[in-house]
Amino acid sequence: MTTRHFLKDDDLTPEEQRELLEFAAAVKRPGWNRHSLAHNGTPRSVAVIFEKPSTRTRLSFQVGIAELGGNPVVIDSQSTQLGRGETIADTARVLSRYVDAIVIRTFADARITELAQHASVPVVNALTDGWHPCQLLADLMTVAEHKPLKGTAIAYVGDAAFNMGNSTVIACSTAGMHVRIGAPAGYQPAREVLDRAAEINRTTGGSVTVTADPVEAVTGADVVSTDSWVSMGMEDREQRLGELAPYQLSTDLLSHAADDAIVLHCLPAHRGEEITDEVMDGPHSRVFDQAENRLHAQKALLAWLVGGDRR
Ligand code: CP
Ligand code: NVA
Repeated sequence: MTTRHFLKDDDLTPEEQRELLEFAAAVKRPGWNRHSLAHNGTPRSVAVIFEKPSTRTRLSFQVGIAELGGNPVVIDSQSTQLGRGETIADTARVLSRYVDAIVIRTFADARITELAQHASVPVVNALTDGWHPCQLLADLMTVAEHKPLKGTAIAYVGDAAFNMGNSTVIACSTAGMHVRIGAPAGYQPAREVLDRAAEINRTTGGSVTVTADPVEAVTGADVVSTDSWVSMGMEDREQRLGELAPYQLSTDLLSHAADDAIVLHCLPAHRGEEITDEVMDGPHSRVFDQAENRLHAQKALLAWLVGGDRR
């Protein structure tokens, strides 16, 4: 049997994504309390490894695994032999002897791909430079609490060429949404990401448009999302702040969206840069529901992937 991994958003088919989001909504309901990560009373262990900082991902995985009756083993790679150069392949082989799944946040996607190639247990992407698929499960879950996913228009403004932009394009296409990217040249999704989205959209009925005009992207949108302009590991801060300044999610930009539009941000927010206080704290914002939904969505994901529990 092949081991299922969740390395990027299109590792789930549209049908699987729909099922998982329905399961996540069930997990969130009061009274849902299953020990999907315990086997005959013994907790299954999940390693959660960080090569970059984290608040939400670290806490939501640790709490979620414990709530599922599992044993979370949360570590920073610098405190392991990974930090002294042990190969990712050897690490994968060793961890597979101890734990039932490996969740990892790292830099290049090649690193998580190699880990998955050498692991005999499921590997979950907790953010790489290229993708943030667990975040998008929470984002879609949050949208679904307000609107049907299929046919809903999401505008994503700012840096669309990194993990959150890529995952938004692919996960929302998988859900049959209409994605409008508002980003300047150099910050737009790569051709291969857009090509993959077009392939997915042929079956889901979704679409992706890309414009350098933030107002055009946001006009009439049902959901408006953004992310930090300087992601972890980036160094050209001043240049990026200058080039992305016209894409700030402000009350003025949001005024072009649908009257009942909701605002998403994966957090951490850099208030006053990519989003204003007024929008973050305003009536359209769902960013803290979105952060909470990381917990429910990841519980559903692990119960599904590791515990074989789908309802
Ligand atoms: N959104 C998100 O992944 O947050 P953290 O970096 O705090 O985990
Ligand atoms: N794009 C951001 C997301 C943080 C959750 C980063 O990679 O730093």
